[in-house]
Amino acid sequence: MTQKVRLPSPFKLVTYDTIDSTNEEAKRLARDGVPSGAVVWAKEQTSGIGRRGRKWISEIGNLYFSILLRPDCSAFKAMQLSFLASLCMAENIKDVLPDTAIVNCKWPNDVLVEERKISGILLETQTLPQGDIDWLVIGIGLNIKSFPEDLEFPATSLTHEGAKNDICAEIMLELFSHRFLSNYKIWKEMGFEPIRKAWLCRVAWIGEKITVRLEHETLVGKFKALDKDGALILLDNGDERRITAGDIFV
Ligand code: BTN
Repeated sequence: MTQKVRLPSPFKLVTYDTIDSTNEEAKRLARDGVPSGAVVWAKEQTSGIGRRGRKWISEIGNLYFSILLRPDCSAFKAMQLSFLASLCMAENIKDVLPDTAIVNCKWPNDVLVEERKISGILLETQTLPQGDIDWLVIGIGLNIKSFPEDLEFPATSLTHEGAKNDICAEIMLELFSHRFLSNYKIWKEMGFEPIRKAWLCRVAWIGEKITVRLEHETLVGKFKALDKDGALILLDNGDERRITAGDIFV
């Protein structure tokens, strides 16, 4: 049974049974001049996209949606919103799982339950000639009923981790939209610091030895800190490396 989804203003929901990718659709809307707040949600994606050009397997039963925003800020500052989104998703996941479940944020913007990936975020922006962004699309996938088995990083789903059977995409989307909106207001009024602090309370592997896979090299070192802008500080043989994009593993 499909429940009616009610999103708080200014969100405006656009729903599809099947679409290529909710991020692609949100970008099409953005280029057509649709205002900030459009949320594209699909029950299934035929060409779901993950970070670094990977495929995001998108079967019916999980949650796939993308939010179009037009904040007046640089692309650099807008990246902070992926931490905000992963924090909100992590807290919602914590709320619907048994109390014993360990839910963490994995740098830069995955959510893990018991060290397995349950949610991923793909943030895309279009910059104006003056430097600020024209639009930003935050695409989020959450495994609710199923998860892919054959990935380089182990995955899981809400059902697998013990969520009640009635937890569905509609409920998780509504919960997310409320939490995101209140944190978005905090971010606009107070900046990144409160979000960064809350995200750090949930972070996975800080202080531990990690492998960082970058586009053209792989580094090993200690995950020392998250700097004021969200970059990962890696301690590599006494040298500090500031990393702004990549995949981390333990
Ligand atoms: C990742 O690689 O971890 C990011 C995955 C992002 C997947 C979501 S699903 C909804 C939105 N539409 C897409 O095509 N991708 C994002």
